[in-house]
Amino acid sequence: MSEKIPKVLVFDFGAQYAQLIARRVREANVYSEIVSHELSVDEVRKIDPVGIILSGGPKSVRIDGAPQIDPSIYELGIPILGICYGAQLIAQQLGGIVSQFDAGEYGRTALEITGGNLLSGQPTQQDVWMSHFDCVTEVPEGFIVTASTQNAPAAAFESEKIYAVQYHPEVSHTQYGQKTIEKWLEISDIQRTWTMTNVIEEQVSAIRAQVGNRRAICGLSGGVDSAVAAALVHKAIGSQLTCVFVDTGLMRKDEGEQVVETFQKTQGIELIHVKAGEEFFNKLKGITEPETKRKAIGELFIRIFERTSGGIEDAHFLVQGTLYPDIIESGSQHAATIKSHHNVGGLPEDMEFELVEPLRSLFKDEVRSVGSELGLPDEIVWRQPFPGPGLGVRIIGEVTPEKVAILQEADFIVRDELKKAGLEREIWQSFAVLPDIRSVGVMGDERTYGYPCIIRAVTSEDAMTADWARIPYEVLELMSNRIINEVEGINRIAYDITSKPPGTIEWE
Ligand code: XMP
Repeated sequence: MSEKIPKVLVFDFGAQYAQLIARRVREANVYSEIVSHELSVDEVRKIDPVGIILSGGPKSVRIDGAPQIDPSIYELGIPILGICYGAQLIAQQLGGIVSQFDAGEYGRTALEITGGNLLSGQPTQQDVWMSHFDCVTEVPEGFIVTASTQNAPAAAFESEKIYAVQYHPEVSHTQYGQKTIEKWLEISDIQRTWTMTNVIEEQVSAIRAQVGNRRAICGLSGGVDSAVAAALVHKAIGSQLTCVFVDTGLMRKDEGEQVVETFQKTQGIELIHVKAGEEFFNKLKGITEPETKRKAIGELFIRIFERTSGGIEDAHFLVQGTLYPDIIESGSQHAATIKSHHNVGGLPEDMEFELVEPLRSLFKDEVRSVGSELGLPDEIVWRQPFPGPGLGVRIIGEVTPEKVAILQEADFIVRDELKKAGLEREIWQSFAVLPDIRSVGVMGDERTYGYPCIIRAVTSEDAMTADWARIPYEVLELMSNRIINEVEGINRIAYDITSKPPGTIEWE
């Protein structure tokens, strides 16, 4: 992203909500990025942000070694907004007093506005979302208190260029939160001009500058990220891009054809469609252990990708659909590998390509907007996350073409009924699972002995945690009736009511 776009920096103090703050600022049409609180004043000067937000954080500003910002940053004259810990830090670093607070305030809290610029125009009595144990008891010189709650005498305070709120304007439970952020941008004279059209234009010129007249390849997985990245790069360099789509035979019903239809026919992108189903089924023969299965799929995928891309002469660049949250989170350590997430459709680790990552500053919802603006169909733009190993991890036991065919039909019905019920966008993922057991049933006057099918539907924000979706009984009933009537081989339906943790979203 070019340095010229007005940028608001969110200084991160380990907040649960730092990402959310950046997203809210972007929703207000200002580009925003998260940075470490350790950024020096020189680095800040170099970036030259139009505003700085100090996020919340789990620590107390009163303990030794509590995270702080370089105090000279306050002297740069850049507009600042402090939120929660950030508000307390402003008070403390500029000479106010932060005290320990017996009661603490958590969750919905009544706020009374008493004056000031930031909150002017809002109802003087309102509910805000709080989460703090310390509170500011004396504001620094030059500041005025503009709001209070029962336990926080300075729940908001401000000077000419520095504003602070003890509550969380970024969470949706704070009714006038977004208004507060927008007002801060307005009184700080920050131009709200950042749109998805700008993003596309900028990325197009950045990609052209990077790639020049050389060639790039992109692995399409059928998922939204690689699809949008490919469409964006294609807009920039046209026929210098070749996409490779390795069809594992483990995709959802009609998904392979849809990828070909969208990219080759509609977008006119040069696409190599490798129909590798048979190779995958051969490789998966006799494999039942989930990790072995995942590894087998991942390895074969990489081999086929390499084989295919090796044939593309002078391909120098590899396009990746890396998103902003991947960048923020890389570096953070996961405690244990629960499942090996082969990023099938992603980067084979030892390939020698220079990366083109046009989505690396975007959140998922922004990627979807870019996709729509580039003319990708809703079926791709609003596609649910889908695991790289595909239906392979939704078929318990050995994966065979017959089982894949059964599961594709059942899975299609689950998603079709959810879509008809208008619940599609509320649900994070919904699908069917085919276990490796059979049970007895009766249809007509005949005894049946078939597979059960498990319906799995979850709500989630980021797939790290998830809850089972409370799908209305009527919708479940429709799914159940249709699957049993329409899919030969299935004679019983169960609904998975396990949250994550302790379960995982996928079954393997
Ligand atoms: P679990 O089952 O671990 O899944 O709760 C969390 C999210 O990750 C998706 N998933 C994968 N994505 N490659 C991927 O790109 C994989 O191997 C993979 N396995 C699981 C899963 O669908 C859910 O959204």
